[in-house]
Amino acid sequence: MSPLRSVGARLGLGLAVVVAGALVLVDLIVVPSLERNLVNAKIHQLREAAPTVASEIAQSSPFTLDDQLQAAAASANARVVYYSSLGSDPPKLSVFADSSPITSTDVEDDRLALRALVEARSVSGTVSEHDQRFAEAAYPVAGGYVVLLRASLRDSLRSIHLVRSRLVVAGLIALLASLLVGYFAASVFARRIRRLERAADRIAAGDFEEPVIDTGKDELGQLAASFERMRRRLAQVEHARREFIANASHELRTPLFSLAGFLELMTDEELDPRTQAEFMATMREQLDRLTKLATDLLDLARLDAGRLRVEREPVDLASIAVTLVEEFDAVARSSGHDLRVDGGAEAPALGDEERALQIGRILVENALVHTPPGTPVRLRTTRRDGAVLLTVEDEGPGIPLDQAAQVFERFHRGDGSKASGSGLGLAIARELAELMGGAVELQIIPGRTIFALVLPKALSERAIPRENEPVPEPSLQ
Ligand SMILES: Nc1ncnc2c1ncn2[C@@H]1O[C@H](COP(=O)(O)OP(=O)(O)O)[C@@H](O)[C@H]1O
Ligand SMILES: [Mg+2]
Repeated sequence: MSPLRSVGARLGLGLAVVVAGALVLVDLIVVPSLERNLVNAKIHQLREAAPTVASEIAQSSPFTLDDQLQAAAASANARVVYYSSLGSDPPKLSVFADSSPITSTDVEDDRLALRALVEARSVSGTVSEHDQRFAEAAYPVAGGYVVLLRASLRDSLRSIHLVRSRLVVAGLIALLASLLVGYFAASVFARRIRRLERAADRIAAGDFEEPVIDTGKDELGQLAASFERMRRRLAQVEHARREFIANASHELRTPLFSLAGFLELMTDEELDPRTQAEFMATMREQLDRLTKLATDLLDLARLDAGRLRVEREPVDLASIAVTLVEEFDAVARSSGHDLRVDGGAEAPALGDEERALQIGRILVENALVHTPPGTPVRLRTTRRDGAVLLTVEDEGPGIPLDQAAQVFERFHRGDGSKASGSGLGLAIARELAELMGGAVELQIIPGRTIFALVLPKALSERAIPRENEPVPEPSLQ
């Protein structure tokens, strides 16, 4: 980036332009108006003094005229010239007396005094002479006389000059200061922005290790804090992704290795038919496990991609409970479990029947697999305000309290759990239930483990939307 395009240079230049603009404005507007005010004040002062001076001079005798002029000049703080008319065609004046007689020639043809004579009224203004400006007030007196008060504007203009030159110096200093301050302030910001830029590049390149730090409390600090939150979240997602891939490949490898091993053994021609049948049974088990795992992984992938669609139609959880007991009857018998539905009241929920069954299978299978033979497993349907529950209750060893949340994590398996499980069941169950606007809840009571599929209650018959009508959002309340 060229140095002139940096934020520092731009801010510095911007500030300098503002300061220079202010300076020009002061010079073009403020200074001239100041000058005008000072000049006008001087003229006004002379105009005010002129009638008094004129009447005093008019009353004085030829002997006291000079003293009178000096006194008037001192009190009006101006030179006082007394003219007499030399005729009216053309009108002409000659200096009759002057408080500063040495330089009388310069006021001989004063145009304001002449105008006062011709127009017979007081006239005031400025005149320039030999590069000098004067404020003047001329006042006609009876008998063809004119009194002129003249004061040099040199002092007033000099002070304006002084103000102007001071302003220029102050302006230049401000200009330089604004350039420097702007440049350095922006450089500090630019440095922080570059640090954030590098952090963003690191994160974009997949490096989530180094934290994004900026201790500032301003907007940049807040931006850095947002970056840091994003980094942590991405790091978590990345960690979960790696873990998922590692777990999934591990889960796939175990049955594949086992299958490969058995295939090897099967090539041994000396195997007796009984052993062969045993091997075949084990291989089928492994194949079932692989198929289930593949289905589960596919479901999870679809859930993650948001591509898994669920229906939201009336589902009777009570009849799902009956179906589940029928489906698992043979399994329960072989494992010696007493599997039964307890209470069969109609439980109209809103959801996807196939998915509700899938969740029920996961819960029942767990209750059968993770409990000792001979223990009872009960299915119940209950209601809670706005929701319908299908509970699966067993009396097995249960789940330690500190693992209550973890059992819903992907690939989480309790210690000593049946090796056949891959730890995906409950994770899928919960995500599916949430997709239907419901939940899977776990209640741990000493001696009993209760999992519940919670779904929103179906609307009353009248409110159930007909086909092609929008389905209202269900809620648990
Ligand atoms: N009814 C239950 N009784 C005791 N432990 C259970 C029960 N259901 C689930 N668990 C525990 O939760 C873990 C996770 O369950 P799940 O996600 O279905 O995976 P899997 O059954 O494949 O191990 C199980 O490994 C087990 O330790
Ligand atoms: Mg399971």
